[in-house]
Amino acid sequence: MAEVGFFDVLRSQRGIRRYAPDPVSDATVRQVIEAATWAPSGSNRQPWHFIVIRDAEIKRRLGEIYREGMIASGGGKAPVPPTLQLGVPPLFSDNLASVPVVVMVCLEKWPTRGRDNLLGAHIFPAVQNLMLAAAALGLGTRLTTIWQHKDTDVMDLLGIPDTVETMAMIPLGYPGGDEHLGGGKRKPVEDVIHADRW
Ligand SMILES: Cc1cc2nc3c(=O)[nH]c(=O)nc-3n(C[C@H](O)[C@H](O)[C@H](O)COP(=O)(O)O)c2cc1C
Repeated sequence: MAEVGFFDVLRSQRGIRRYAPDPVSDATVRQVIEAATWAPSGSNRQPWHFIVIRDAEIKRRLGEIYREGMIASGGGKAPVPPTLQLGVPPLFSDNLASVPVVVMVCLEKWPTRGRDNLLGAHIFPAVQNLMLAAAALGLGTRLTTIWQHKDTDVMDLLGIPDTVETMAMIPLGYPGGDEHLGGGKRKPVEDVIHADRW
């Protein structure tokens, strides 16, 4: 697919829930991850690692953990199965095994002297680069974190050492069903821009 202009890419990037089975090549995945690595990080530490998951059984189990994380985030209350909610598209987690690629973005930890709350700041610029690069190639993604309520299960499943933190799980594939890039809803910029003072 031909690449599109930068500002069009910004507008087109949005969280995709349904994915087409069309394959995503290793070269494309590499291109998207290389784009991620051009992001800034504190002291240029570049603490990111990207686990590219294509194995159907691992993806299926990640989908299960996602759902368990959702339940844990709701204080143990099971969410209504999406198929029972009229007009609500199924969660991608219900069918994660069929998404061509899942990228688990990890962060290699270091002693932060109590500034752990800033760890995300060292990784989410790379996550955003990844998602924008994907959108530039016509690929859908979705930044997900809710499964972090069960992150130790993810660490066990993927053999991640405890010196590393799991930060974002990103499905990657061409939009499927009736989903497409673009059409996200945002507040008007006039509502969020301030001149000199609040
Ligand atoms: C920090 C963060 C965590 C998110 N976690 C989840 C998640 O666990 N599951 C999910 O489906 N979407 C998740 N999202 C995606 C947002 O819900 C989505 O980007 C937002 O609703 C805007 O929708 P759009 O991207 O389609 O415009 C997350 C986004 C961010 C920035």
